[in-house]
Amino acid sequence: MLKNDLILRAARGEKTERTPVWVMRQAGRILPEYRAVRNGLSGFKELVETPELAAEVTIQPVDILGVDAAIIFSDILVIPEAMGLPYEMVEKTGPIFRKTVATTEDLTSLKVAKAEDLSYTLEAIKITKRELSGRVPIIGFAGAPWTIFAYMVEGSGSKTFSKPRKMLYTNPELAHRLLGMITQSTIAYLKGQIAAGADMVQIFDSWAGVLPPEQYQKFSLAYIEQIAAAITEVPVTVFAKGAFFAIADMANISCNTVGLDWNMDVQEARKLLPGKTLQGNMDPCALYGTFDLVKSESIKMLKAFEGHPHIANLGHGVYPDTDPDKVRCFIDTVKEYRP
Ligand code: CP3
Repeated sequence: MLKNDLILRAARGEKTERTPVWVMRQAGRILPEYRAVRNGLSGFKELVETPELAAEVTIQPVDILGVDAAIIFSDILVIPEAMGLPYEMVEKTGPIFRKTVATTEDLTSLKVAKAEDLSYTLEAIKITKRELSGRVPIIGFAGAPWTIFAYMVEGSGSKTFSKPRKMLYTNPELAHRLLGMITQSTIAYLKGQIAAGADMVQIFDSWAGVLPPEQYQKFSLAYIEQIAAAITEVPVTVFAKGAFFAIADMANISCNTVGLDWNMDVQEARKLLPGKTLQGNMDPCALYGTFDLVKSESIKMLKAFEGHPHIANLGHGVYPDTDPDKVRCFIDTVKEYRP
């Protein structure tokens, strides 16, 4: 039994006694306690693939920051790896794929992943579930097919993701085939996470913002909807960074919650998404301000969402050089606030 299920009730659109709060990328990045675990290892992947340690860093922000949910420590790039395209995480550079997808031929070495291919994350969820013993819910996650496709074709991060965008024009059939395989893999993986104990799931479309609206419909939202429609067991959140142009379409996605980044006008989103819980959306850079500023910006955010189901969060992941005390100030301000 969950002792704190505020976030699940808010996701289902119920009124809650206070606004639940968590922070995207809360596990890792900012905590010295995370660094301490990470420094003893060969690299990021060892942490992701060692369930006991992944569980430990998943729980750290619950203990240290007091958030209302734990997000399982893993990465969105485990899906391409399970499909046959391994990633490397290069310190200070980010992810790199030695092999990428450029031609239809490249698909022959890829498969639709099964949940068991990612048993290390499923095991980490089981351990986390046991160790949390109901203190807060666990959030499972995956990348949106478009964002995963973007990494598999580009081979790394990029400001423009021009290789995957080029493919949408030059070989849309290949793009759809790969997006379909990613979608099937993601559904299997999220269902595995739920079976292992995830109480809700979030889909991260981090690179939504690089597509024109019409392509976003066809090459991203259509696949997000396949996933959201397939996940009937737990509440689903869709967070599409930079997708302000598609916010009205989110009303038709089978998700409970829509995540907003800080560019989005909250009142407009509220009008366009009457039946949805909203999540977000303080600018992560506000956490570089003084404690007084963090408090006033947090309250400003809470007031903007007031009166409707809301899960407090930042508008994107917390930046790595943020002072954890400022994050705690954000969280405490939300937890103390009563309308
Ligand atoms: O939210 C959490 O704290 C849970 C863990 C989590 C990680 N990555 C751990 C991680 C989650 C939810 C992610 C999602 C993720 N990964 C996204 C979507 C969210 C977003 O920020 O838009 C994306 C685009 C990735 C891909 C990725 N992973 C990149 C570009 C990088 C390098 C830069 C960075 O973000 O730090 C990673 C590495 C990564 N994933 C780290 C962590 C803690 C840092 C690596 C390290 O500790 O050495």
